[in-house]
Amino acid sequence: MTRIFFVSFFLLLSTLNLHAEEGMWIPLLLEQKNQTDMQSMGLKLTAADIYNVNQSSLKDAIVLFGGGCTGEVVSDQGLILTNHHCGFGQIQARSTIEHDYLTDGFWAMNQSEELPNPGLTVSFLVSMSDVTSEVLQGVTPQMSMNERYKKIRSNTSVIKRKATEGNHYEAQIRPFYYGNEYYLMIYEIFTDIRLVGTPPSNIGKFGGDTDNWIWPRHTGDFSIFRIYAGTDNKPAPYSKDNIPFKPRRHLSISLKGIQPGDFTFVYGFPGRTEEYLPAQGVDLAVNIVNPIRIALREIRLGIINSYSEKNDTIRLRYAAKHAGIANGWKKWIGESRGIKRIKGVEIKKEFETRFANWTGVDEVEQSPYAGLLAAFDEAYTPYKHWKATETWLNESVLSVEAIRFARSFAPLVDLCASKDSSDQSIKTLAQKYTRSTDGFYKNYEVQIDREILAAMLEMYIVKAAGEAEQPTVFTNLIKKYKGNLKIAADDLFRKSVFTSKNRLSGLLGNFHRKDVKKIENDPLYQLAFQLTDYNKQIVNPHIVEFDRKFDSLMPLYMKAQMEMQPGKKFFPDANSTLRISYGKVNGYVPEDGASYNYYTTLNGIMEKENPEVYDYVVEPKLKSLYNSKDYGRYADASGEMHTCFIATNHTTGGNSGSPVMNGEGQLLGLNFDRCWEGTMSDLMYDPDKCRNISLDIRYCLFIIDKFAGAGHLVKEMTIIE
Ligand code: ARG
Ligand code: GLU
Repeated sequence: MTRIFFVSFFLLLSTLNLHAEEGMWIPLLLEQKNQTDMQSMGLKLTAADIYNVNQSSLKDAIVLFGGGCTGEVVSDQGLILTNHHCGFGQIQARSTIEHDYLTDGFWAMNQSEELPNPGLTVSFLVSMSDVTSEVLQGVTPQMSMNERYKKIRSNTSVIKRKATEGNHYEAQIRPFYYGNEYYLMIYEIFTDIRLVGTPPSNIGKFGGDTDNWIWPRHTGDFSIFRIYAGTDNKPAPYSKDNIPFKPRRHLSISLKGIQPGDFTFVYGFPGRTEEYLPAQGVDLAVNIVNPIRIALREIRLGIINSYSEKNDTIRLRYAAKHAGIANGWKKWIGESRGIKRIKGVEIKKEFETRFANWTGVDEVEQSPYAGLLAAFDEAYTPYKHWKATETWLNESVLSVEAIRFARSFAPLVDLCASKDSSDQSIKTLAQKYTRSTDGFYKNYEVQIDREILAAMLEMYIVKAAGEAEQPTVFTNLIKKYKGNLKIAADDLFRKSVFTSKNRLSGLLGNFHRKDVKKIENDPLYQLAFQLTDYNKQIVNPHIVEFDRKFDSLMPLYMKAQMEMQPGKKFFPDANSTLRISYGKVNGYVPEDGASYNYYTTLNGIMEKENPEVYDYVVEPKLKSLYNSKDYGRYADASGEMHTCFIATNHTTGGNSGSPVMNGEGQLLGLNFDRCWEGTMSDLMYDPDKCRNISLDIRYCLFIIDKFAGAGHLVKEMTIIE
């Protein structure tokens, strides 16, 4: 009896734990859904300390940084921390030949040296509220999808208008649980955001794409900005008279470090997850879409690498492009492997068997959900082929830079074709293109792109045959060039105006309406145009048809999953709204026979050092600090400098830069990545393998203070020793 009790007690405990760490929770519902759980794991605060609209709470220190990252306020003068890779675009844009901040780092020694960033915004969530009944008012089950969308759209715009009447806020309404619930989010958006500091790339991007998604990790992935406001402390466009923003709240920073098993939570803006898909959806993602993307990106990366390895200028020019292509490529490999490892598709199928029993398979035995799975099957079966075609097209020939660039000229072609357009408006637009032309060629190597086109044509026409539809443009190319796609690519590139800056600038410099012929008849513009058209006419209708079916089935399936498992706590898929994930500091077993510790140290940077390999060059100053062990108060009790750590918080893209906090809500680190073996967590979370990777805040402060000599910034912060 006692034994049975114990066994089932532990079973219960372990399943509870299993669910405790999965999830990205809604701050508004924390008290109701998570407070007890979080406190039992080590949270010392209440839900109201974390999210409260009536008085200041931790929420007031969290920002959406730009469109897709998170940041946190760390001083009463509007100082914010985010990742280096989140500030990368701004750092690059502020860099010049004389001041290469990307390579050398940048530190404003006083506020007058801080650098403005046109276009960059930082948004605070003022409040969120459940507006489900208002959004669905007047929506009936009898309505068609179109009528339903229309009604929801009109309700939404009324609610948003009311919410922003007489204030300077912006409103957003987002569906949660696939439209079973709707929430209204009110944001205050600041537009004068200045760059305050960034480490050199050797620190901020240490390990580069080689270490990306990988643990053990040693990247000092942070940058510092400051929010400026008008003299009334409200958002204002850039002005030198603006003053540092006084936040309602800033985070205090803990130097106490972490122990395995410590409670942590992450507060930020995760972008997108798909945790509730039917087995078919997971199968499509990991067995069809990912393999296509992976294979095609591998080829593009291989070609870029073959040039970069031989030529440093090319490597620099292609660094950002390479990072972008490689980031997805590597993540998808990890994701597909992870789902295979846990037999994710089989787990979902097994669930569906139980689901079918629960709803009653027999159509006559009416549950409102009977027939759902069959309807999904019916929708997915033709869709798989069209999704494969779309992926093949977008990731192959339509990824060629010159083709994408050529396609961007469509508005100019349209303007010239329009009888109402004046000659002057054509000239003005052509001038705009002159500017984007400069931007395009700044980091462009024609021989790389030409080789990629040849390889992509080969892949699509030869390798994708059978798996993807073949557009007639391709059949014609084969005929014209007698199957030699390398000659085809060479010829298209030689004849096109888009592959030469001189030719294109010449054309745009003195552009008249009749010159549009030169664009329209350009072989790369033609190819771009025909492929886009093919996508639009032939492929897209199938995609839209599926989306429509999916949008009508998924809300029901979501609701059914919740009803079927009343004891399970559900979180809504990520949708770029503010969420909380919580978990524990913990290492993991990446594969049989291996085990990973939960933290890394500066020693690892020295072990990885290789002056010959760009990703592993170590700054001389960092080396000398290491040699003299001059870590100040930022070292741990045994004198080690910790660099990064991992924990079981469920995160995704968009969580970059998010604060990782301890039970008291003090900052321990900055989330910046996930472990490769766990990137499947966007589809299914595995508590054994899913870990978020964070920069240890002590390493961040050490770099600011000891490495950069910008201790005045640390003085601004609230440090708990
Ligand atoms: N993997 C991280 C993310 O998804 C970091 C990407 C930037 N770093 C890089 N080496 N490419 O955004
Ligand atoms: N690096 C990602 C980002 O930029 C976070 C890593 C993840 O996908 O979890 O948001």
